[in-house]
Amino acid sequence: MDPVTTSLAELHDRLSSLADGEVADYIPQLASADPRTFGLALVSMSGNRYHAGDTDDLFSIQSVSKPFVYALAVSELGPAAVARRVGAEPSGEAFNAISLEQGTGRPANPMVNAGAIVTTSLVPAADASDRFERIRACLSAFAGRSLDVDEDVYRSEAASGDRNRALAYLMRGAGSLAGDVDETVRTYFRQCSIRVGVADLAVMAATLANGGVNPVTGDRVIAEPVAVRALAVMATCGMYDSAGEWLLRVGLPAKSGVSGGLIACSPARFGIAVHSPPLDRAGNPVRGVVALTELSERFALHLMHQPGRHIATVTEVTTALDHPSYRARTPAQRAVLDREGHRVVIIRAQGALEFTETEHLLHALRQSEPSPPGWIVLDLDRVTRIALGSATMLGAVLADLVAAGHEIAIAAREPLLDPIGDGPAPWTAFVSRDEAVAWGEDRLLATTTEPTG
Ligand code: DON
Repeated sequence: MDPVTTSLAELHDRLSSLADGEVADYIPQLASADPRTFGLALVSMSGNRYHAGDTDDLFSIQSVSKPFVYALAVSELGPAAVARRVGAEPSGEAFNAISLEQGTGRPANPMVNAGAIVTTSLVPAADASDRFERIRACLSAFAGRSLDVDEDVYRSEAASGDRNRALAYLMRGAGSLAGDVDETVRTYFRQCSIRVGVADLAVMAATLANGGVNPVTGDRVIAEPVAVRALAVMATCGMYDSAGEWLLRVGLPAKSGVSGGLIACSPARFGIAVHSPPLDRAGNPVRGVVALTELSERFALHLMHQPGRHIATVTEVTTALDHPSYRARTPAQRAVLDREGHRVVIIRAQGALEFTETEHLLHALRQSEPSPPGWIVLDLDRVTRIALGSATMLGAVLADLVAAGHEIAIAAREPLLDPIGDGPAPWTAFVSRDEAVAWGEDRLLATTTEPTG
């Protein structure tokens, strides 16, 4: 058994005996769930799947649908339009609380029922059935397979959903919910009744953790900034009135539902889902909360965890004196290079350049800057990515070096860095380091007028 499956199986075996919590019964159909059902699933960013326990059970998604429908609404309308209709502040209250802003009636956040009902109503569509179909299609894209509705749960929820109806009428009265109340609430009930397995939820969570690209199908479901927004709202509001405690102890964006589903997203690592119907007093699945708390500690997953120092970014700082190019040189040229080669500085970096790595590289650049005019060869062949803000920092420093009288060459097989603004790049690009170093030597030779022996 692989180590990930072993961890999940160990948690499953140990936590199966945990008998705390109550199965939700305010929707009659949910009360028939077997409290012993317990499944865990994890999907990595490479799309690899791991699971343990009862993973064949299908259940209604309930509130776990909320971040995905929020993401759909933000994708369709943009963040500002959605924010005008639903807030992003934790309510510190139960999922079915009446947490509406005084005066405007705007619900506190899209994770409580009031906010989720508004979010559902915001999904643009020709009519109610089109709206539901768009929601179902979106959740299916997140899951990577076509999902359907548990009609029994839907009927049961529609028959017993007076509190949600009352909430919706209150919001319409306050002007924060537009459209037909009954139709909106029915679409919301159908959304909650969409049938999933714990493996589906893990793929859905992994898609959010992967910046909106489903790691199993490879399809982009939502744009990266939308995924970030959904994760942020999950982090602050996903676990209702235990959201603060959850962030302290687990430190991952998460969302629970009354049928016992729980998802958590470890950005750029994996999505995980647990299904276990007994809930604690905050409405979160007891075994899921314990399992995620333990996993987070064991694998140091907390988002605020210090990820370690990136000291291996700059792997070489040298000059053409110690590492000349392979280009054939005349004895006269060789003599100049033997004397002046230190003015061609070579810096090699590797890996992904985020803020910390870029700061490290820029420091190395400053430290090794020759007296002008000098030639600087940046060997970025082993750099895999330059993050947006980092590219701006690097571009600005390179422009400064050019202004100080230096010439710059960048060696990389792929173009990694775009020039800032519309003008030409202040550097010369090469596909190999040797060509870049030879160019630096040529420029040095061309500007060295002193007669040589
Ligand atoms: O609004 C309701 O009552 C349900 N359909 C969804 C609630 C839910 O899952 C709350 N989460 N813990």
